[in-house]
Amino acid sequence: MSDIKTEINRRRTFAIISHPDAGKTTLTEKFLLYGGAINLAGSVKGKATARHAVSDWMEIEKERGISVTSSVLQFEYDDYCINILDTPGHQDFSEDTYRTLMAADSAVMVIDASKGVEAQTRKLFKVCVMRHIPIFTFINKMDRDANDTFDLLDEIEKELGIATCPMNWPIGSGKEFKGVYDRRSKSVVTYSDTQKGTKEGETNIIPLTDEEGLLSHIGNDARDKLTEEIELLDGASAEFDLELVQSGDLTPVFFGSALTNFGVEIFLKYFLEMTTTPLPRKADAGLIQPTEHEFSAFVFKIQANMNKAHRDRIAFMRICSGRFDASKEVRHVQGNKVMRLSQPQQLMANDRKILEEAYAGDIIGVFDPGVFSIGDTVCMPGEQFRYEGIPTFAPEHFARVRQIDTMKRKQFVKGITQIAQEGAIQIFQECNSGMEEIIVGVVGVLQFDVLKYRLENEYNVEIRLENLPYEYIRWIVDESTDLNSISGTSDMKKITDLKGRPLLLFVHEWSIGMTLDRNQGLELAEFGTNE
Ligand code: G4P
Repeated sequence: MSDIKTEINRRRTFAIISHPDAGKTTLTEKFLLYGGAINLAGSVKGKATARHAVSDWMEIEKERGISVTSSVLQFEYDDYCINILDTPGHQDFSEDTYRTLMAADSAVMVIDASKGVEAQTRKLFKVCVMRHIPIFTFINKMDRDANDTFDLLDEIEKELGIATCPMNWPIGSGKEFKGVYDRRSKSVVTYSDTQKGTKEGETNIIPLTDEEGLLSHIGNDARDKLTEEIELLDGASAEFDLELVQSGDLTPVFFGSALTNFGVEIFLKYFLEMTTTPLPRKADAGLIQPTEHEFSAFVFKIQANMNKAHRDRIAFMRICSGRFDASKEVRHVQGNKVMRLSQPQQLMANDRKILEEAYAGDIIGVFDPGVFSIGDTVCMPGEQFRYEGIPTFAPEHFARVRQIDTMKRKQFVKGITQIAQEGAIQIFQECNSGMEEIIVGVVGVLQFDVLKYRLENEYNVEIRLENLPYEYIRWIVDESTDLNSISGTSDMKKITDLKGRPLLLFVHEWSIGMTLDRNQGLELAEFGTNE
């Protein structure tokens, strides 16, 4: 068991959250560079080809040249085995992006220094907070003109409601960017443009006490400003407290420039030191400890139809405890079946390799003949427990869906229900209308195209989508509430999900509060359950 423990304890599994263009891809590439997983020449090209290779799974991805699926990158650095979970952004933002966060033990939040906290970061941050996982902040693009540092920290605290603790402090920005002051070692690390980030960018480390060194490297003005800011900072910022970091109540903040490769390795080192080993996870049998339990995992994502000829699906599992041995049988709890997982594989951005073993913290993809659902538990044959389900995340775009050929009703209902079960879309019915009026909700608009494409190609059903103006959905906590008894606003719509649970749709956010005011005792939730 001790080898298994060592393997598990050296694992760090995290997701990078950011708004598109903040520098997530660039930062990931630099991490891989330090891990030796790629070389620099390959990395620049790698961005496009990596995306493409993953994308080949679906025709629609090829057509658009973007990736709908999220992948996992595994690499070694020092003695760590690191799993980075990719959270797709841009147009391919979907419920999977959120679900991926359910499989991570911590998150790195990348913020563009000239933009501050942006919409997508805010959304993803909410999910991290719900899970109380540690969140580390990397404020990127310091080689460009940045917002005032105190303002940036203030914004994070106010907008996201998390305390910040700067681990280092930038000296200037843009053309005047001189480097960072590392608060722990009390020294200045100087910046030089490394021409798009060769690994050996030249940096000098100058202790704050070395007056002459500072003067010659950052100059008089920058030094004076730094001294002043350090004083302010020491007086005003939260004390570093590892416990608060690990409970997700305090975010350590770092400054740097991923593109020019400044501050990235320091960040990686601190991050690995402070972040957690694979976390225990809640199950109906209590907390399952990664190193004290035999193999167990849960399904957090299902990717359908990577190979059209076989209509196959891949179920992505996060291993929560023990060691996975591909030659051994396991129990799929929800299906009540003992089976061997078929073609277990690990997915690199541009590579899939069949695995024989993996450990808690790792992600594996297994061939799914259609038996798994999101949130399912897999454990050893002699065991029988279920991990806590994955919530249903709120869709933000809604459309009424109609089939063009009404004779194909059966295929249509079958197709749309199956696609909804895989978790690509959510479907609802208008209150009192049955399956006549189907409303589809998605987290990212691209899922509408995926739905249309898949219904046509897999079920031979053409549909028409009519966009609806709703943007906010709320689950009614007391599921026995009679929808007809709710008095809402004029922009509100009453709907039910496939299981008959009542929900409300709103066009305006303020209508939610108004509806709560008008209905004494009504409780609304932003996340649904998958139970
Ligand atoms: P994303 O994955 O979060 O969407 O962002 P990505 O890394 O693709 O970066 C978005 C753009 O910002 C890229 O420029 C990238 O080179 C640039 N960038 C990332 N980090 C830094 C940084 O530290 N400093 C500066 N100045 N720029 C940075 P692009 O022109 O859109 O793409 P590319 O042609 O450079 O690949």
